[in-house]
Amino acid sequence: MKKVVITGSNGLLGQKLVKLFLGKPDYEIHALSRGLNRLDDQKGYKYYDIDLLDNDKLITLLTQVLPDVIIHTAAMTNVDACELQQEECDRMNIEVVANILAYCDKKDTYLLHLSTDFIFDGEKGTIYKEEDLANPVNYYGLSKWKSELMIQESNVPHAILRTILVYGLVDGNDRSNIVLWVKNSLEANKEIRVVTDQLRMPTYAEDLAEACWLAVESRANGVFNVSSNELMSIYEIALAVADAFALDKKLIHPVATSALSLPAKRPFSTGFDLNKSIDEINLPSHSFTDRLQVFKNQLNSLEA
Ligand SMILES: NC(=O)c1ccc[n+]([C@@H]2O[C@H](COP(=O)([O-])OP(=O)(O)OC[C@H]3O[C@@H](n4cnc5c(N)ncnc54)[C@H](OP(=O)(O)O)[C@@H]3O)[C@@H](O)[C@H]2O)c1
Repeated sequence: MKKVVITGSNGLLGQKLVKLFLGKPDYEIHALSRGLNRLDDQKGYKYYDIDLLDNDKLITLLTQVLPDVIIHTAAMTNVDACELQQEECDRMNIEVVANILAYCDKKDTYLLHLSTDFIFDGEKGTIYKEEDLANPVNYYGLSKWKSELMIQESNVPHAILRTILVYGLVDGNDRSNIVLWVKNSLEANKEIRVVTDQLRMPTYAEDLAEACWLAVESRANGVFNVSSNELMSIYEIALAVADAFALDKKLIHPVATSALSLPAKRPFSTGFDLNKSIDEINLPSHSFTDRLQVFKNQLNSLEA
């Protein structure tokens, strides 16, 4: 049995990872998050309520478990909160990573870290390859880039999976994402303003979890892009959601990002070139529109 520690197991990706690893018989799962376990399914793995900012507790736990693999999904992920609370962002997105990295270095533990398209400024004019130059335009992106650099410059066996605008269903959590926000708003007959000047390749959370699994299984080394394969404006994404769920598109109003007066700047266009991940970790290539149908079927089966 291999032991995997999954941090952030109450989060969108963390939950999908616990579910996915539960289906893999050769893994013993240790799920870490703060507070109560919010997953519906609480059997077949160990859950630890732990604040990762408490490093003594974290290292004691890791030393007891002695994992073969750590998948570090936990992060301060609210981009505007990171801009407004920069010290808190540094502690969670940089210091905690440094602590986990130091543990991995000492024990030669494989580390899978999650990063973001927001390390780029979005001004390249075309999609990004893994080796393109980072130039974050907000504090969240900067914190994730700094954590990447620490890992890349270390001797720890690792993979860093960068991803974009993740969506999916979360147990016991009202944290929304682009698809659920559009769907729920339109179902409630609510008008929404959606930006036309941010281009993304949205990622289905189940696909990201599978990519993590593929990277762990192949002990992939280096940086890998993980997303869907269609570059769309967030406005186009919203229209596709309305189409998929047969909702009223007239409720969706196109706006420029500047009209929203958000605390953190957003990069303009951040699609990924997926060739390296397809070649090296066998990442399946999916379009957003196709995965939206899969997500719709998932929601329908839960309602049935
Ligand atoms: N979601 C996206 O669109 C996106 C895009 C690009 C990259 N990423 C990266 O992908 C990774 C996973 O994202 P996600 O969407 O799954 O994030 P998420 O849903 O926000 O989950 C993060 C989890 O980390 C937990 N956490 C935060 N601070 C903690 C602490 N001090 N101690 C213990 N747990 C703590 C959170 O706990 P609470 O639930 O209690 O808050 C949450 O459950 C992150 O590294 C993120 O930067 C995400």
